Amino acid sequence: MNNVTGEKGILVAPSILSADFTRLKEALDLIKNSGGDWVHVDVMDGHYVPNLTIGPPVIESIRGATEMFMDVHLMVVEPDRLVPSFIQAGADMITVHAEACTHLNRTLQCIREAGIKAGIALNPATSLSMLNYSWDAVDMILLMTVNPGFGGQSYIPQMTGKIRELREMIQMKNPDILLEIDGGISTENIAEVTAAGANVIVTGSSFFGAADPARYVRELRELAEVF
Ligand code: DX5
Ligand code: ZN
Repeated sequence: MNNVTGEKGILVAPSILSADFTRLKEALDLIKNSGGDWVHVDVMDGHYVPNLTIGPPVIESIRGATEMFMDVHLMVVEPDRLVPSFIQAGADMITVHAEACTHLNRTLQCIREAGIKAGIALNPATSLSMLNYSWDAVDMILLMTVNPGFGGQSYIPQMTGKIRELREMIQMKNPDILLEIDGGISTENIAEVTAAGANVIVTGSSFFGAADPARYVRELRELAEVF
């Protein structure tokens, strides 16, 4: 049992990217009532990724509408410019892409100094060696298991080996660091990715597309192979 994920084994973080944005409050309530642990919020700027989503005002509205842990995934260039606004808006965790930061450790420090959690995201083609000098500065590593930008893509099978490699590194450096995976996760591959070492599971299209999202979350937990 991990100190952070507790008895649940895995944390399930539904992504509102696949929700109906005209009915966000209903989506947040659905996440809570379906047994989701976190709300995953995808921020895209149309530059770092070829898609554009939401910014601090929406994050602030979400904050006012739910007490759930808000996991904010920034897919933006120069995240330093925006981090203070997202802190102000009420994020509980901010994850930045290592590839997008000029001074990664400074950005992480700025997030942590605000009293919230800091994460590093890595694209599928980015080497784990990017993490070598940031182990003490981070609470979570987010491995992209699709190329970022859109919900509903297929899991990249080569990522299972990368999850396994990262799990080994985390066990050596600091087992409390969370390993989140994002993209193409469903009941089809949850056993594989959790057996490899993932313990925070982002799920967008499969959660919001499920006939019974509560049952879907239960199945994810049942099928998860907690290491
Ligand atoms: C993709 C986003 C994901 C996305 C996952 O760039 O970071 O969080 O919402 O969606 P699914 O689960 O549909 O792949
Ligand atoms: Zn995401």
